[in-house]
Amino acid sequence: GTMGLLRVMPSMLKQHNTIDDAWTALNGKVYNMSSYMDYHPGGVKELMRVAGRDGTKLFASTHAWVNAEFMLDACMVGFLVPEGSVKN
Ligand code: HEM
Repeated sequence: GTMGLLRVMPSMLKQHNTIDDAWTALNGKVYNMSSYMDYHPGGVKELMRVAGRDGTKLFASTHAWVNAEFMLDACMVGFLVPEGSVKN
């Protein structure tokens, strides 16, 4: 994107939980999954289970062999950081 990488707290992540604006965190990186939504082999509903939250565990338990870091690289919006660590 054009805006650079963000530091995203869990409370910020939580606000991006709709199909058109679906963020998730995987292994400390935050992604906007919306453009991938229609291409996910497991469907939209499954993908939306991790929208707005840390999806690391569910992703790993579903398909640990999938390289999401590579697949979603262009969709990366930033890094997950602890609550309270970003002053707005
Ligand atoms: C299948 C990517 C999140 C559930 C797949 C496949 C890919 C993929 C590439 C095909 C794997 C294969 O055939 O070996 C992703 C990416 C995700 C994501 C990049 C990152 C956000 C999730 C989540 C769930 C999920 C959170 C929730 C449970 C599934 C299921 C399948 C699947 C059930 C099997 C579909 C089938 O073969 O019928 N996903 N996935 N995925 N995914 Fe995901």
